[in-house]
Amino acid sequence: MPAPALSLRRLRLSDFRNYAALDLDFDGRCVAFAGANGAGKTNLLEAVSLLAPGRGLRRAPLADLARTGAPAWGVRAVLDRAGEGVEVATGVAPESPNSRIVRIDDAPAPQTALGPLAPMVWLTPAQDRLFTGPPGDRRRFIDRFALAAFPDHATASNRYERALRERTRVLEEGRADPAWLDGLEAEMAARGAEIAQARAETVRRLEAAIAARPEGAFPRARLTLAGALEQRLMEGASLEDTEAEFRAALARARPRDAAAGRALEGPHRSDLDVVYAAKDQPAALCSTGEQKALLTGLVLAQAAAISDAGPPPLVLLDEAAAHLDPDRRAALAGELLALGVQAFLTGVEPRLFDGFADAVQSFAVEAGTATEI
Ligand SMILES: Nc1ncnc2c1ncn2[C@@H]1O[C@H](COP(=O)(O)OP(=O)(O)OP(=O)(O)O)[C@@H](O)[C@H]1O
Ligand SMILES: [Mg+2]
Repeated sequence: MPAPALSLRRLRLSDFRNYAALDLDFDGRCVAFAGANGAGKTNLLEAVSLLAPGRGLRRAPLADLARTGAPAWGVRAVLDRAGEGVEVATGVAPESPNSRIVRIDDAPAPQTALGPLAPMVWLTPAQDRLFTGPPGDRRRFIDRFALAAFPDHATASNRYERALRERTRVLEEGRADPAWLDGLEAEMAARGAEIAQARAETVRRLEAAIAARPEGAFPRARLTLAGALEQRLMEGASLEDTEAEFRAALARARPRDAAAGRALEGPHRSDLDVVYAAKDQPAALCSTGEQKALLTGLVLAQAAAISDAGPPPLVLLDEAAAHLDPDRRAALAGELLALGVQAFLTGVEPRLFDGFADAVQSFAVEAGTATEI
Protein backbone atom coordinates (compact mmCIF):
# COMPACT_ATOMS: atom_id res chain seq x y z
CA MET A 1 0.00 0.00 0.00
CA PRO A 2 1.51 3.41 -0.94
CA ALA A 3 2.22 5.85 1.91
CA PRO A 4 -0.44 8.53 2.28
CA ALA A 5 0.26 11.97 0.76
CA LEU A 6 0.66 13.29 4.28
CA SER A 7 2.23 11.26 7.04
CA LEU A 8 4.09 11.74 10.27
CA ARG A 9 7.47 10.02 10.06
CA ARG A 10 9.19 10.89 13.30
CA LEU A 11 8.02 12.15 16.68
CA ARG A 12 10.41 13.32 19.38
CA LEU A 13 9.24 14.41 22.80
CA SER A 14 11.18 16.08 25.57
CA ASP A 15 9.67 16.59 29.01
CA PHE A 16 6.20 16.30 27.52
CA ARG A 17 3.57 14.97 30.00
CA ASN A 18 4.86 11.61 31.31
CA TYR A 19 7.66 11.39 28.70
CA ALA A 20 11.14 12.55 29.70
CA ALA A 21 12.48 11.73 26.25
CA LEU A 22 11.01 9.72 23.42
CA ASP A 23 11.97 9.23 19.78
CA LEU A 24 9.63 7.26 17.51
CA ASP A 25 9.97 6.50 13.80
CA PHE A 26 6.88 5.82 11.72
CA ASP A 27 6.89 4.23 8.29
CA GLY A 28 3.75 5.89 6.89
CA ARG A 29 1.26 3.17 7.82
CA CYS A 30 -1.44 3.74 10.41
CA VAL A 31 -0.13 3.70 13.97
CA ALA A 32 -1.60 1.88 16.99
CA PHE A 33 -0.60 2.63 20.57
CA ALA A 34 -1.57 -0.14 22.96
CA GLY A 35 -1.06 -0.09 26.70
CA ALA A 36 -2.61 -0.07 30.14
CA ASN A 37 -4.60 2.80 31.60
CA GLY A 38 -2.26 5.63 32.49
CA ALA A 39 0.59 4.37 30.30
CA GLY A 40 0.72 7.50 28.13
CA LYS A 41 -1.32 6.69 25.00
CA THR A 42 -3.49 9.81 24.96
CA ASN A 43 -0.40 11.89 25.73
CA LEU A 44 1.11 10.66 22.45
CA LEU A 45 -1.97 11.64 20.45
CA GLU A 46 -2.01 14.98 22.25
CA ALA A 47 1.62 15.56 21.22
CA VAL A 48 0.66 14.92 17.58
CA SER A 49 -2.38 17.21 17.93
CA LEU A 50 -0.08 20.07 18.93
CA LEU A 51 1.30 19.99 15.39
CA ALA A 52 -1.99 21.78 14.56
CA PRO A 53 -2.91 25.30 15.70
CA GLY A 54 -4.72 25.61 19.01
CA ARG A 55 -4.56 23.87 22.34
CA GLY A 56 -4.47 20.28 21.21
CA LEU A 57 -7.02 17.51 21.59
CA ARG A 58 -7.39 17.96 25.35
CA ARG A 59 -7.59 21.77 25.13
CA ALA A 60 -5.13 21.71 27.99
CA PRO A 61 -3.52 24.84 29.41
CA LEU A 62 0.14 25.14 28.36
CA ALA A 63 1.22 24.79 31.99
CA ASP A 64 -0.09 21.20 32.10
CA LEU A 65 2.02 19.98 29.21
CA ALA A 66 5.49 20.11 30.76
CA ARG A 67 6.47 16.98 32.63
CA THR A 68 5.89 17.55 36.31
CA GLY A 69 8.84 19.55 37.63
CA ALA A 70 10.30 20.34 34.19
CA PRO A 71 10.62 24.02 33.21
CA ALA A 72 9.87 23.48 29.50
CA TRP A 73 8.66 20.92 26.98
CA GLY A 74 9.11 20.21 23.31
CA VAL A 75 7.51 18.20 20.50
CA ARG A 76 9.48 17.79 17.31
CA ALA A 77 8.19 16.03 14.24
CA VAL A 78 9.10 15.18 10.70
CA LEU A 79 6.20 15.24 8.27
CA ASP A 80 6.26 13.71 4.84
CA ARG A 81 4.22 15.82 2.45
CA ALA A 82 4.03 14.05 -0.90
CA GLY A 83 7.64 12.89 -0.56
CA GLU A 84 8.95 16.16 0.82
CA GLY A 85 10.16 16.26 4.43
CA VAL A 86 9.09 19.14 6.67
CA GLU A 87 10.38 19.58 10.21
CA VAL A 88 7.97 21.02 12.72
CA ALA A 89 8.87 21.87 16.30
CA THR A 90 6.70 23.28 19.04
CA GLY A 91 6.99 23.77 22.76
CA VAL A 92 7.80 26.37 25.36
CA ALA A 93 11.13 27.78 26.51
CA PRO A 94 11.95 27.88 30.24
CA GLU A 95 12.06 31.70 30.20
CA SER A 96 8.57 32.04 28.68
CA PRO A 97 6.45 29.06 29.76
CA ASN A 98 3.23 30.81 28.70
CA SER A 99 3.91 31.21 25.01
CA ARG A 100 4.00 28.32 22.62
CA ILE A 101 6.83 28.52 20.11
CA VAL A 102 6.47 27.09 16.60
CA ARG A 103 9.33 26.45 14.19
CA ILE A 104 8.91 25.11 10.68
CA ASP A 105 12.09 23.86 9.03
CA ASP A 106 13.99 25.62 11.81
CA ALA A 107 12.49 29.06 11.15
CA PRO A 108 10.11 30.73 13.62
CA ALA A 109 6.52 30.60 12.37
CA PRO A 110 3.12 31.70 13.65
CA GLN A 111 0.88 28.96 15.03
CA THR A 112 -1.58 29.57 12.19
CA ALA A 113 1.07 28.36 9.71
CA LEU A 114 0.58 24.86 11.12
CA GLY A 115 -3.01 24.61 9.84
CA PRO A 116 -2.35 24.09 6.12
CA LEU A 117 0.81 22.08 6.85
CA ALA A 118 -0.83 19.20 8.68
CA PRO A 119 -4.63 19.10 8.50
CA MET A 120 -5.93 16.98 11.34
CA VAL A 121 -9.16 15.54 12.63
CA TRP A 122 -9.63 13.78 15.93
CA LEU A 123 -12.09 11.86 18.00
CA THR A 124 -11.68 11.64 21.77
CA PRO A 125 -13.74 10.18 24.62
CA ALA A 126 -14.45 13.77 25.76
CA GLN A 127 -16.43 14.23 22.54
CA ASP A 128 -18.88 11.52 23.64
CA ARG A 129 -20.91 14.39 25.09
CA LEU A 130 -20.77 16.48 21.93
CA PHE A 131 -24.46 16.13 21.07
CA THR A 132 -25.77 16.61 24.61
CA GLY A 133 -23.28 19.22 25.79
CA PRO A 134 -23.30 23.00 25.31
CA PRO A 135 -23.54 24.57 21.81
CA GLY A 136 -19.99 25.93 22.19
CA ASP A 137 -18.64 22.37 21.88
CA ARG A 138 -20.46 21.87 18.56
CA ARG A 139 -19.35 25.28 17.29
CA ARG A 140 -15.77 24.32 18.09
CA PHE A 141 -16.26 20.99 16.31
CA ILE A 142 -17.36 22.68 13.09
CA ASP A 143 -14.87 25.54 13.45
CA ARG A 144 -11.92 23.19 13.82
CA PHE A 145 -13.01 21.51 10.66
CA ALA A 146 -13.56 24.85 8.88
CA LEU A 147 -10.00 25.74 9.80
CA ALA A 148 -8.63 22.84 7.80
CA ALA A 149 -10.15 24.28 4.61
CA PHE A 150 -10.10 27.99 5.44
CA PRO A 151 -6.88 29.02 7.20
CA ASP A 152 -8.23 32.60 7.63
CA HIS A 153 -11.08 31.27 9.76
CA ALA A 154 -8.93 31.49 12.92
CA THR A 155 -8.00 35.12 12.28
CA ALA A 156 -11.61 36.07 11.53
CA SER A 157 -12.74 34.35 14.74
CA ASN A 158 -10.10 36.09 16.86
CA ARG A 159 -10.94 39.51 15.42
CA TYR A 160 -14.67 38.91 15.84
CA GLU A 161 -14.21 37.89 19.49
CA ARG A 162 -12.07 40.94 20.18
CA ALA A 163 -14.64 43.35 18.68
CA LEU A 164 -17.45 41.50 20.49
CA ARG A 165 -15.74 41.85 23.87
CA GLU A 166 -14.93 45.49 23.26
CA ARG A 167 -18.52 46.29 22.23
CA THR A 168 -19.83 44.57 25.37
CA ARG A 169 -17.42 46.60 27.49
CA VAL A 170 -18.36 49.90 25.80
CA LEU A 171 -22.09 49.15 26.16
CA GLU A 172 -21.61 48.27 29.83
CA GLU A 173 -19.92 51.58 30.55
CA GLY A 174 -23.15 53.21 29.42
CA ARG A 175 -21.62 56.33 27.88
CA ALA A 176 -20.99 54.82 24.51
CA ASP A 177 -19.49 56.93 21.75
CA PRO A 178 -21.72 56.02 18.75
CA ALA A 179 -18.87 56.33 16.26
CA TRP A 180 -16.73 53.93 18.29
CA LEU A 181 -19.62 51.48 18.49
CA ASP A 182 -20.21 51.84 14.74
CA GLY A 183 -16.60 50.83 14.10
CA LEU A 184 -16.78 47.82 16.41
CA GLU A 185 -20.07 46.65 14.90
CA ALA A 186 -18.67 47.07 11.37
CA GLU A 187 -15.80 44.78 12.34
CA MET A 188 -18.15 42.28 13.99
CA ALA A 189 -20.41 42.26 10.94
CA ALA A 190 -17.59 41.80 8.43
CA ARG A 191 -15.80 39.08 10.40
CA GLY A 192 -19.07 37.49 11.52
CA ALA A 193 -20.24 37.12 7.92
CA GLU A 194 -16.88 35.54 7.00
CA ILE A 195 -17.11 33.11 9.91
CA ALA A 196 -20.67 32.14 8.95
CA GLN A 197 -19.67 31.69 5.32
CA ALA A 198 -16.75 29.40 6.19
CA ARG A 199 -19.06 27.34 8.41
CA ALA A 200 -21.78 27.15 5.76
CA GLU A 201 -19.30 26.01 3.13
CA THR A 202 -17.80 23.52 5.59
CA VAL A 203 -21.19 21.97 6.31
CA ARG A 204 -21.93 21.81 2.57
CA ARG A 205 -18.69 19.88 1.97
CA LEU A 206 -19.34 17.68 4.97
CA GLU A 207 -22.81 16.83 3.71
CA ALA A 208 -21.39 15.88 0.32
CA ALA A 209 -18.85 13.62 2.01
CA ILE A 210 -21.56 12.09 4.22
CA ALA A 211 -23.72 11.35 1.17
CA ALA A 212 -20.75 9.62 -0.50
CA ARG A 213 -20.07 7.33 2.49
CA PRO A 214 -21.63 3.89 2.65
CA GLU A 215 -24.54 3.59 5.09
CA GLY A 216 -23.07 0.78 7.13
CA ALA A 217 -21.37 0.51 10.49
CA PHE A 218 -21.41 4.26 11.03
CA PRO A 219 -24.78 5.87 10.30
CA ARG A 220 -25.26 9.02 8.28
CA ALA A 221 -25.94 12.32 9.97
CA ARG A 222 -28.06 15.18 8.69
CA LEU A 223 -26.62 18.56 9.62
CA THR A 224 -28.17 21.99 10.07
CA LEU A 225 -26.34 25.12 11.11
CA ALA A 226 -28.57 26.95 13.54
CA GLY A 227 -27.61 30.60 13.30
CA ALA A 228 -29.19 33.57 11.52
CA LEU A 229 -26.13 34.46 9.42
CA GLU A 230 -25.37 30.87 8.46
CA GLN A 231 -29.02 30.28 7.52
CA ARG A 232 -29.15 33.36 5.33
CA LEU A 233 -25.97 32.35 3.51
CA MET A 234 -27.20 28.77 3.06
CA GLU A 235 -30.37 30.18 1.51
CA GLY A 236 -28.27 31.99 -1.07
CA ALA A 237 -27.87 35.51 0.36
CA SER A 238 -24.66 37.29 -0.63
CA LEU A 239 -21.83 37.89 1.82
CA GLU A 240 -22.32 41.67 1.47
CA ASP A 241 -26.05 41.54 2.24
CA THR A 242 -25.50 39.22 5.19
CA GLU A 243 -22.86 41.56 6.58
CA ALA A 244 -25.04 44.67 6.10
CA GLU A 245 -28.06 43.05 7.74
CA PHE A 246 -26.03 41.87 10.71
CA ARG A 247 -24.50 45.32 11.10
CA ALA A 248 -27.95 46.92 11.15
CA ALA A 249 -29.21 44.28 13.61
CA LEU A 250 -26.31 44.99 15.96
CA ALA A 251 -27.01 48.75 15.88
CA ARG A 252 -30.69 48.11 16.69
CA ALA A 253 -29.81 45.71 19.49
CA ARG A 254 -27.62 48.12 21.46
CA PRO A 255 -30.16 48.81 24.27
CA ARG A 256 -31.09 45.11 24.52
CA ASP A 257 -27.45 43.94 24.56
CA ALA A 258 -26.51 46.66 27.06
CA ALA A 259 -29.26 45.40 29.39
CA ALA A 260 -28.21 41.76 28.88
CA GLY A 261 -24.52 42.52 29.35
CA ARG A 262 -23.66 40.59 26.19
CA ALA A 263 -24.51 40.35 22.50
CA LEU A 264 -27.53 38.07 22.19
CA GLU A 265 -27.21 37.47 18.46
CA GLY A 266 -24.36 36.55 16.18
CA PRO A 267 -22.21 33.65 15.06
CA HIS A 268 -20.83 33.32 18.61
CA ARG A 269 -24.26 31.87 19.51
CA SER A 270 -24.67 29.49 16.56
CA ASP A 271 -25.17 25.76 16.95
CA LEU A 272 -24.84 22.65 14.82
CA ASP A 273 -27.95 20.45 14.85
CA VAL A 274 -27.22 16.81 14.10
CA VAL A 275 -29.88 14.24 13.24
CA TYR A 276 -29.48 10.46 12.82
CA ALA A 277 -30.74 10.53 9.23
CA ALA A 278 -32.12 6.99 8.81
CA LYS A 279 -34.10 7.25 12.06
CA ASP A 280 -34.94 10.93 11.77
CA GLN A 281 -33.87 11.17 15.41
CA PRO A 282 -32.01 14.16 16.90
CA ALA A 283 -28.52 13.00 17.89
CA ALA A 284 -29.02 14.21 21.47
CA LEU A 285 -31.87 11.68 21.83
CA CYS A 286 -29.90 8.75 20.40
CA SER A 287 -28.41 6.01 22.58
CA THR A 288 -24.80 6.29 23.75
CA GLY A 289 -23.67 3.74 21.19
CA GLU A 290 -25.64 5.41 18.40
CA GLN A 291 -24.13 8.78 19.27
CA LYS A 292 -20.64 7.29 19.22
CA ALA A 293 -21.29 5.65 15.84
CA LEU A 294 -22.73 8.90 14.42
CA LEU A 295 -19.74 10.86 15.63
CA THR A 296 -17.30 8.33 14.21
CA GLY A 297 -19.13 8.61 10.87
CA LEU A 298 -18.89 12.40 11.04
CA VAL A 299 -15.16 12.30 11.70
CA LEU A 300 -14.65 9.84 8.82
CA ALA A 301 -16.69 12.18 6.60
CA GLN A 302 -14.52 15.10 7.74
CA ALA A 303 -11.41 13.16 6.79
CA ALA A 304 -12.93 12.34 3.38
CA ALA A 305 -13.98 15.97 2.78
CA ILE A 306 -10.49 17.24 3.62
CA SER A 307 -8.92 14.61 1.35
CA ASP A 308 -11.20 15.73 -1.50
CA ALA A 309 -9.74 19.23 -1.32
CA GLY A 310 -6.06 18.57 -0.55
CA PRO A 311 -3.69 16.26 1.31
CA PRO A 312 -5.48 13.70 3.50
CA PRO A 313 -5.47 14.67 7.18
CA LEU A 314 -3.84 12.89 10.06
CA VAL A 315 -6.67 11.17 11.92
CA LEU A 316 -6.31 10.83 15.70
CA LEU A 317 -8.68 8.32 17.27
CA ASP A 318 -8.40 8.03 21.04
CA GLU A 319 -10.12 4.88 22.29
CA ALA A 320 -12.34 4.83 19.23
CA ALA A 321 -12.20 1.05 18.90
CA ALA A 322 -12.87 0.17 22.52
CA HIS A 323 -16.66 0.45 22.38
CA LEU A 324 -17.07 -1.11 18.96
CA ASP A 325 -18.03 -4.71 18.33
CA PRO A 326 -15.59 -6.72 16.13
CA ASP A 327 -17.59 -6.04 12.93
CA ARG A 328 -17.58 -2.30 13.51
CA ARG A 329 -13.87 -2.35 14.42
CA ALA A 330 -13.16 -4.06 11.12
CA ALA A 331 -15.36 -1.51 9.32
CA LEU A 332 -13.44 1.36 10.95
CA ALA A 333 -10.11 -0.10 9.86
CA GLY A 334 -11.50 -0.69 6.36
CA GLU A 335 -12.76 2.87 6.01
CA LEU A 336 -9.51 4.40 7.26
CA LEU A 337 -7.48 2.28 4.87
CA ALA A 338 -9.80 3.13 1.98
CA LEU A 339 -9.42 6.84 2.78
CA GLY A 340 -5.64 6.48 2.52
CA VAL A 341 -5.02 8.47 5.68
CA GLN A 342 -2.46 7.88 8.38
CA ALA A 343 -4.53 7.26 11.49
CA PHE A 344 -3.20 7.14 15.05
CA LEU A 345 -5.24 4.92 17.31
CA THR A 346 -5.09 4.01 20.97
CA GLY A 347 -6.48 1.06 22.87
CA VAL A 348 -5.76 -1.03 25.92
CA GLU A 349 -5.07 -4.17 23.88
CA PRO A 350 -3.29 -4.80 20.56
CA ARG A 351 -6.11 -7.10 19.40
CA LEU A 352 -8.37 -4.04 19.04
CA PHE A 353 -6.39 -3.29 15.89
CA ASP A 354 -6.63 -6.75 14.29
CA GLY A 355 -8.89 -5.31 11.58
CA PHE A 356 -5.88 -3.53 10.08
CA ALA A 357 -4.03 -6.83 9.54
CA ASP A 358 -0.47 -5.75 8.69
CA ALA A 359 -1.48 -2.24 7.56
CA VAL A 360 -0.71 -0.85 11.00
CA GLN A 361 2.48 -0.18 12.92
CA SER A 362 1.90 -1.14 16.56
CA PHE A 363 3.63 0.16 19.67
CA ALA A 364 3.44 -1.06 23.24
CA VAL A 365 3.18 1.96 25.53
CA GLU A 366 4.33 1.59 29.10
CA ALA A 367 5.12 4.25 31.71
CA GLY A 368 6.76 6.84 29.49
CA THR A 369 8.18 4.53 26.83
CA ALA A 370 6.84 3.16 23.57
CA THR A 371 8.31 0.14 21.82
CA GLU A 372 7.37 -1.19 18.41
CA ILE A 373 5.83 -4.64 18.55
N1 LIG B 1 2.44 17.09 33.04
C1 LIG B 1 2.57 15.81 33.37
N2 LIG B 1 3.72 15.34 33.90
C2 LIG B 1 3.86 14.04 34.21
N3 LIG B 1 2.90 13.12 34.04
C3 LIG B 1 1.73 13.53 33.51
C4 LIG B 1 1.49 14.89 33.16
N4 LIG B 1 0.25 15.00 32.67
C5 LIG B 1 -0.27 13.77 32.72
N5 LIG B 1 0.60 12.88 33.23
C6 LIG B 1 0.43 11.44 33.45
O1 LIG B 1 0.63 10.73 32.27
C7 LIG B 1 0.07 9.43 32.44
C8 LIG B 1 -0.48 8.93 31.12
O2 LIG B 1 -1.62 9.68 30.77
P1 LIG B 1 -2.48 9.32 29.46
O3 LIG B 1 -3.69 10.13 29.54
O4 LIG B 1 -1.63 9.45 28.26
O5 LIG B 1 -2.79 7.80 29.74
P2 LIG B 1 -3.49 6.74 28.76
O6 LIG B 1 -2.46 5.73 28.38
O7 LIG B 1 -4.19 7.42 27.68
O8 LIG B 1 -4.52 6.05 29.77
P3 LIG B 1 -6.09 5.64 29.59
O9 LIG B 1 -6.10 4.29 28.97
O10 LIG B 1 -6.56 5.58 31.01
O11 LIG B 1 -6.75 6.69 28.79
C9 LIG B 1 -0.96 9.56 33.53
O12 LIG B 1 -0.55 8.82 34.65
C10 LIG B 1 -0.97 11.03 33.85
O13 LIG B 1 -1.21 11.30 35.22
MG1 LIG C 1 -6.18 7.78 27.30
